[in-house]
Amino acid sequence: MSVQLPRGTQDILPEDAVIWQYIEKVAKEVCETYNFEEIRTPIFEHTEVFTRGVGDTTDIVQKEMYTFKDRGDRSLTLRPEGTASVARSYVGNKLFGSPNQPTKLYYTGPMFRYERPQAGRMRQFVQFGVEALGSASPQLDAEVLALLVDICKRLGIVNLKLVINSLGDSESRIAHREALISHFKPAIGEFCSDCQARLEKNPLRILDCKKDREHPLMNTAPSILDFLNDTSSNYFTQLKETLDMLGISYTVDPTLVRGLDYYNHTAFELMSTAPGFGAITTLCGGGRYNGLVQEFGGPETPGIGFAFSIERFILAMKAEQVELPKRRNLDAYVVALGDEANKRAPLIVHQLRQAGLRVDKDYLNKKMKAQLKAADRYAASCTVIIGDDELSREEAVIKHMSSGEQKTIPLSELVSHIVDLRGGKQND
Ligand code: HAM
Repeated sequence: MSVQLPRGTQDILPEDAVIWQYIEKVAKEVCETYNFEEIRTPIFEHTEVFTRGVGDTTDIVQKEMYTFKDRGDRSLTLRPEGTASVARSYVGNKLFGSPNQPTKLYYTGPMFRYERPQAGRMRQFVQFGVEALGSASPQLDAEVLALLVDICKRLGIVNLKLVINSLGDSESRIAHREALISHFKPAIGEFCSDCQARLEKNPLRILDCKKDREHPLMNTAPSILDFLNDTSSNYFTQLKETLDMLGISYTVDPTLVRGLDYYNHTAFELMSTAPGFGAITTLCGGGRYNGLVQEFGGPETPGIGFAFSIERFILAMKAEQVELPKRRNLDAYVVALGDEANKRAPLIVHQLRQAGLRVDKDYLNKKMKAQLKAADRYAASCTVIIGDDELSREEAVIKHMSSGEQKTIPLSELVSHIVDLRGGKQND
């Protein structure tokens, strides 16, 4: 049997898992301050959720999905992203009927894309995302961006470039689409087969092609910003004004189109500009998707959101030399010597843990010296030594590891003594 991992997947071992927990905790805390609440959707969905939701001309749907038939011959897909699932859930659970609109949700969990793995690009990766459904206010777009920037700030990711664009409403997009077709059509034979297929179906996606990036027609392609109607243009202006007011800096890039079909109006990406960050500099992507809920049979409902992967955030934090959280220390390590003490040790450890302390003991019948070494390895704040003699007097010896100071105390005072030692604080 193979013990190798599938390409593009990874084990997150305890010393790294604390960094993951930390990022997720900070992101959730910031979301809660913006009144976003958590939603959890299944890891697999009916395939149409993504073919319809993400769009069947996208690379994600055409090349990257993990799709399989279940035993009932249904086509299911491991989710490649979270937005389509959230829109599906919003409709299925009639969240549009709630008086609390916009519905502001966040989620975190594994996503799956069959991509070519490299640093920051995995086949299984964990996204943290937010979606706000039920309002078409540009203030909400600004709020979502402020939330993103706040999460980064709290994590120490500060070398950032926020790029925004407007993809306009459907009227603006139809006009732009025609202009793109006229622009590319005469030379479409010089483009890759994907772009040739995109010309009629979704010419905007040509601008996002990696293979044809250098083609001279790319630079001269008509800009969407020249095709925005008044409504779209006013919307974009209001967003920029609100961002200015909030002191959030951004750059407008009319070539930013994003790789998913559901976007209109605002589209954005957040890049790392930290020296030493790898080749893939996009940390986060998002935008507005005002037609997606209707796609799932729901009422006309605007939406906006973003997602970033924890993998890329960790790369950014490392590039910025942020001090990363380390494995937590133990509050106490219990060393038992002698038969009676050994028998009683599980109860003492249990009582300490009931008080919320982080405690462990030996399970390998190690000698005293080796047990003390283990306490050191776990960086325990103190060691509780119980021998048969101490036990007969209902006492224990407590050794403070930093000072080396040692004293004998009644077992009945052990919990309060160690709680005091850690400053009376609860474990997080
Ligand atoms: P996306 O641009 O496809 O958008 O992905 C968002 C983020 O997920 C990327 O910026 C990156 O941080 C991370 N990501 C994507 N693919 C990989 C990968 N293979 N390995 C590691 N990280 C990856 C979406 O998924 C949209 N659902 C975002 C959104 C939410 N738009 C509106 N609401």
